[in-house]
Amino acid sequence: MSTQTTHKNLSVQEAIESRHSVRKFKEETLTKADIEEIIQLTKLAPSAWNLQPWRFHAVMDTKMKQELQEAAYGQTQVTSAPCVILVVSDMEDVIAHIEETIHPGVPEDKKKEEIANLSAFFGSMTIEERGQWGLTQTNIALGFLLLAAEGLGYSSVPMLGFDQIKIKSLLQLKEHEKICAMVPVGHKAEEGYPHHRHTLERITVFH
Ligand SMILES: Cc1cc2nc3c(=O)[nH]c(=O)nc-3n(C[C@H](O)[C@H](O)[C@H](O)COP(=O)(O)O)c2cc1C
Repeated sequence: MSTQTTHKNLSVQEAIESRHSVRKFKEETLTKADIEEIIQLTKLAPSAWNLQPWRFHAVMDTKMKQELQEAAYGQTQVTSAPCVILVVSDMEDVIAHIEETIHPGVPEDKKKEEIANLSAFFGSMTIEERGQWGLTQTNIALGFLLLAAEGLGYSSVPMLGFDQIKIKSLLQLKEHEKICAMVPVGHKAEEGYPHHRHTLERITVFH
């Protein structure tokens, strides 16, 4: 567990309302167990056919965080955070192990049919199309991760402002893997900005 022993357990509503992007973190280490707790919740996110294309890289190494920060155009929240979680999508890994995602309760003949259907569906796409499809699913996990971290008492900031090629090289990702976001996580040292959002009327149509 972290050096801060009391974990919060916010309700979903509390976590949604209190989450803000935080860019300055306390100098407290997060343990592997802390990160695992966040990812355990994150991986309960739903995905089409339950394919779960999300993969996570948790960076706590100081030198590597410095390199990530350089690739993120010097954004200082990267090294300020005790841990930076990279949310990655790997559809080719999904396709190579498609049987893993079929629910264990599915009978054997039905399982074979599902595998054949999924293989045909994704087989008709290019690697790039599959990659983009996987990213749409992985973004759901990103939302879960931000709220899971907040609910447990951590703060975070989702980031896309970085050089994808440099980050891919740093993490030794394969060519087809897509980076969904970089997320510095830790206990906040400074508040984020107050929420600024559209009104409900501006974005909602009732039919
Ligand atoms: C996909 C995505 C990428 C973002 N990239 C960055 C970034 O590179 N740097 C940064 O400081 N904030 C980044 N943000 C944070 C947004 O600026 C922030 O979420 C938005 O202004 C709303 O503020 P809030 O998160 O405090 O509610 C990103 C947010 C998202 C969802």
